[in-house]
Amino acid sequence: MCGIVGVLAQGPVAGSIVAALKRLEYRGYDSAGIATLEDGRLQRRRAEGKLKNLEAKLVAEPLGGTIGIGHTRWATHGKPTETNAHPHAARGLAVVHNGIIENFKALREELAAKGFGFATETDTEVAALVVEDEMASGKTPVEAVSAALKRLRGAFALVYLFEGEEDLLIGARQGAPLAVGYGDGEMYLGSDALALAPFTDRVAYLDEGDWVVVTRKGAEFHDAAGKVVQRRVQVSPAGSLLAEKGNYRHFMAKEIHEQPEVVGHTLAHYIDMSAMRLKPFDWPVDPKTLSKVTIIACGTAHVAGLVGKYWIERFARLAVEIDVASEFRYREAPVDPNGLTIVVSQSGETADTLASLKYVKEHGSKTIGVVNVPTSSIARLTDVAAPTLAGPEIGVASTKAFTCQLAAMAALALGLGKARGTLSDAEEATLLAELVSTPALIAEALKLERATEKIAQAVARARDVLYLGRGTSYPLALEGALKLKELTYIHAEGYAAGELKHGPIALIDQAMPVVVIAPHDPVFEKTVSNMQEVAARGGWLILIGETHAKAEAAVEIEHFLPMPEVGANFAPIVYAVPVQMLAYYTAVIMGKDADQPRNLAKSVTVE
Ligand code: F6R
Repeated sequence: MCGIVGVLAQGPVAGSIVAALKRLEYRGYDSAGIATLEDGRLQRRRAEGKLKNLEAKLVAEPLGGTIGIGHTRWATHGKPTETNAHPHAARGLAVVHNGIIENFKALREELAAKGFGFATETDTEVAALVVEDEMASGKTPVEAVSAALKRLRGAFALVYLFEGEEDLLIGARQGAPLAVGYGDGEMYLGSDALALAPFTDRVAYLDEGDWVVVTRKGAEFHDAAGKVVQRRVQVSPAGSLLAEKGNYRHFMAKEIHEQPEVVGHTLAHYIDMSAMRLKPFDWPVDPKTLSKVTIIACGTAHVAGLVGKYWIERFARLAVEIDVASEFRYREAPVDPNGLTIVVSQSGETADTLASLKYVKEHGSKTIGVVNVPTSSIARLTDVAAPTLAGPEIGVASTKAFTCQLAAMAALALGLGKARGTLSDAEEATLLAELVSTPALIAEALKLERATEKIAQAVARARDVLYLGRGTSYPLALEGALKLKELTYIHAEGYAAGELKHGPIALIDQAMPVVVIAPHDPVFEKTVSNMQEVAARGGWLILIGETHAKAEAAVEIEHFLPMPEVGANFAPIVYAVPVQMLAYYTAVIMGKDADQPRNLAKSVTVE
């Protein structure tokens, strides 16, 4: 993942910026660069590969200046070349960026029509040029950034440096983290507090949608509406920085909010965003000759696998069998030696999943591991890794690892479809465009936090909760019930909505909330019928659907969470967010420990 740094110091900054970038190396990168102001003029040094290449460049061509920005780039749009490395420059400014500017193509066309030229293949250059465009009409840097941010869509963090402005950096956060460090007459910006640790332990975090004007005297935070707001400065002891909660009360809340960024990075691992094509994937078996896929996992990872089954069947026209690992490993299942087994695991150490993996390997199956910890046993044992880039997940209940598993499963399903010829080039491009819009839609869905908290007040009083969904929302119903059970100890069940009348409808009364997950997909109307069945029996409905869903359901709905418009294919990646938030806030209201629910372990290395 890209790392960004900004420093306003009393002495030369180049060395400090490189030191901060070194602390961001753990995020992974393939090029790096810095920009400073020397006598008010922008100067840049950039290099392909590791930071030592940039350091060598800085020895050969040193950079002066007491203000600057730096970046480690993990390529998404365009190859990891020096030209594509950050900082990117426009007339009078430079920028570093982490994330994806989703509407970069439309903005490129708009800027090209105004006569702007482009030096790189990146989306980031557009973030620099829109500010130049705004400044061309006489705006100050602060006014220009504030106006430009309204034109950028996606999930990103940015830091801007301006020619002739020796005491000004402007940062912005929309779906990717950014921290401000407070020194003695010096100020810093960084992707996380870890980057700032060599300079200061006093750190404030930007909230979602914030932008910040930083000078050597301090920082002025603005919210998305432009209003000046206060953000708490906290002291972060150096030793605990990787396990930082930032502005959040719990790791779980932090991890829920990290999802636009980490889902974006996971997608970028599989998708060439500039070409809107899947990157080549090293299939361990020829997808064309495959007759079946088997998916094995536990808990939330199993739910991600279940969504994957729907996608692989739909896009690759392949039969998929899925099982929980604790059952699969003992049921002496026949294994097709020409088949493909996909195991899904955040930790990569879950004992049952590991044992199932060994079993299928012994019986000749080729394997892919959708795993979050790259050094784990499962990651090492599978033939091919399909990584999720969620970063360390500390909260025991899985959140960001889940949505990253969904992102990876979506890419694998589309990849299988492409390799098998069941998806055309045009279908690939359309589906990928829908898929890469999910990080920004997650950021939108996160805005429902307060509304979800209100609903959680009511859910906290329930004894039982039923979750319903159809199609890919059925696994999400299972996930909603699992999250609520493990965090609040309220009994909950997830059901395929069509199964309601085959039993669970007997439970419906006014005391049991029924959470209906109903994105606008081809089975929406069927789900509406199921809501009507609940309403007809005086049931208590909580609907998670698009704005128009409530009116279309034409039944009495007690609580409604109006979701942004999401394409029908990858809705679970976005709808996971309110489902997670509802369980989280119910736990918080009930005074339960959201990060470490009773009886649970993060990594289940025993049977
Ligand atoms: C639920 C949860 C668990 C895990 C399960 C598998 O919130 O976190 O159900 O999903 O224990 O763990 P991994 O993915 O590490 O194999």
